[in-house]
Amino acid sequence: MTISPELSVLLHENRQFDPPADLAANANAQPEIYERAAADRLGFWSEQAEFLTWDRHWDEVLEWEAPHSKWFVGGTLNASVNCVDRHVDAGNGGRVAFHWVGEPEGDTRATTYAQLKDQVCQAANALTDLGVKKGDRVAIYMPMIPETVVAMLACARLGAPHMVVFAGYSSEALSTRIIDCGAQVVITADGSWRKGVINELKPAVDVAMDSCPDVRHVLVVKRTGQEVDWRTGRDVWWHDTVEKASTDHTPEMFDSEHPLYIMYTSGTTGTPKGVLHTTGGYLTHVSSTSRLIFDMKPETDVFWTAADIGWVTGHSYIVYGPLANGVTSVMYEGAPDAGGKDRWWKIIEHYGVTILYTAPTTIRTFMKWGEEYPKMHDLSSLRIIGSVGEPINPEAWIWYHSNIGGNTAAVVDTWWQTENGGILITPLPGITATKPGAAMKPFPGISAEVFGNDGKPVGRGEGGFLVVTEPWPGMLRTVWGDDERYQRTYWSKFPGVYLSGDGAKKDDDGDFWVLGRLDDVMNISGHRISTTEVEHAIVSDLKVAEAAVVGASDPITGTAIVAFVTIKASVDTEGEAGVRLVAELRDTVAERIGKLARPRQILLTPELPKTRSGKIMRRLLRDVAEHRELGDVTTLADSTVVDMIAELMADAPAEAEDTTNGSAASGVADSTTAEEAGGHA
Ligand code: WTA
Repeated sequence: MTISPELSVLLHENRQFDPPADLAANANAQPEIYERAAADRLGFWSEQAEFLTWDRHWDEVLEWEAPHSKWFVGGTLNASVNCVDRHVDAGNGGRVAFHWVGEPEGDTRATTYAQLKDQVCQAANALTDLGVKKGDRVAIYMPMIPETVVAMLACARLGAPHMVVFAGYSSEALSTRIIDCGAQVVITADGSWRKGVINELKPAVDVAMDSCPDVRHVLVVKRTGQEVDWRTGRDVWWHDTVEKASTDHTPEMFDSEHPLYIMYTSGTTGTPKGVLHTTGGYLTHVSSTSRLIFDMKPETDVFWTAADIGWVTGHSYIVYGPLANGVTSVMYEGAPDAGGKDRWWKIIEHYGVTILYTAPTTIRTFMKWGEEYPKMHDLSSLRIIGSVGEPINPEAWIWYHSNIGGNTAAVVDTWWQTENGGILITPLPGITATKPGAAMKPFPGISAEVFGNDGKPVGRGEGGFLVVTEPWPGMLRTVWGDDERYQRTYWSKFPGVYLSGDGAKKDDDGDFWVLGRLDDVMNISGHRISTTEVEHAIVSDLKVAEAAVVGASDPITGTAIVAFVTIKASVDTEGEAGVRLVAELRDTVAERIGKLARPRQILLTPELPKTRSGKIMRRLLRDVAEHRELGDVTTLADSTVVDMIAELMADAPAEAEDTTNGSAASGVADSTTAEEAGGHA
């Protein structure tokens, strides 16, 4: 594997930051934890599982028939009981579970654990009335409002796996996911507030329903109140059903391996994969990482994962991890600059947030806006600040540490993936001396390595494949409906070893530096999008002959999508017609996938560079997109093609950076733009 020039700069970073002394003295994770887990990995996970409330204790910690695992075999529990009921039963019902902050200023709502329990029970009863039973899949397409958490926990309570689709995805993306998992009930809202305008959601669901004849009911939360189309019999209001239902609900206990949720994520081929997570192991993983990495102290902490619930980060660290710990969280509906570029800092000051978790792309956006905004507020309550979703460059790390963390908060750069369920590589805030840009060490009980092509660990300082060599409790169990794809994608390159798709290296101290994807998956502001997916969307336009998509590095979003498109000869691409065509293609991508996948730049070219065997040379296109010297062109069938494209690129208008705010039904967070980058970690 080759390491690009920007990444090799990263690898020469040698500053170190000791854990804050007061944090170290009182941290939930003390240094012995690494030895304890190394000496008896399964014993360690067993101790972590004991923090949960089980109805029946497990007989065996792990059953491993590679690549299939079962965790806490024979144990039974209910995830929603673990997230709400048991805190109420322990006398903590009066504690706030969520301080919700709507985008319009002053539009706030606090929900205590006792209230959350009542709402989850009501929703469970209402969903039962709509015919939802154990094992049924329920699709959720919702904004950042408390009802989204209630909906997820109600599904968990019934043993009906939820399948949340990020509300920035298009109706087409929604319908393909609904069809793939066979959901018959959809939960949504009329809309949400984003940058002062209503992002309608219900119309997108209505369009999706045209291709989902099996959906029986759409349950709709009224959030923004505008008129919506209504299909009597199919559509029901949340306030007419859930809010009128009984607050009594006796939960059933499920097997530890009962499916908890499905989350679709982009892979190297066109169709997204339905990653399946189950109950006992997942909950053990997210609750223990929350407690030990974010050092959660439920009596005193106010936790804020500033991500969207529609991504795995939201599932694990807005919903299941914090709630399993009974901690108080903040949840924010809108854009990071709604009401001023200091909105986040105002929220942190107001609620006394102690732990913040966000993405590098957002941090870089704040850097661009300037340090005067955080300076307007007292952020001294922050004691731990986390990062996730992409490699964090040392400049952003240092800026975050000093401007947000006041040079005293511990920075935790956490590496993990949708498939992993929870964090796998991270510092522990009271133990680890951190290096800006390094994710540092496998979490206790996690066996991560960097392998060379031969399936053996590479030497210190060498790059390789980031792999996990032993199963872990939060791992995906399969790809929904396609176990063969599960085996092939993750477990076939090195049999019995999990292939992450990321590159990494260990430095001289053995600390991990994650270098980013090695496959065709792009990481746009922390959103995973495959090049193939975007190519398919573009070639669905009948005027297109061929398309090649590459990820080019971008100072704010990490990676930006650049598409090279050949148009059929019969189509006029001169002047205005060409400009219109490019706009049309960008819209097509937004419609088919979502605004987050809209290319930053589309270059119309008469030809694409190909090898003699006809393979498109994406590597060269990436060089072109990044205005770099072209790499080796000797395998090209016709090397003049790439020179011509490079010339076109040089003459192309400056970036067609998108500044719309995504008010269409399909777009909540248009994260291809810097201003919107805060939507996701
Ligand atoms: C990238 C998000 C470097 C990585 C939780 C991974 C990171 C993909 C980090 C998963 C990090 C995530 N440093 N890269 N700290 N965290 N990534 O599934 O490429 O949305 O494969 O899960 O994000 O993205 P996903």
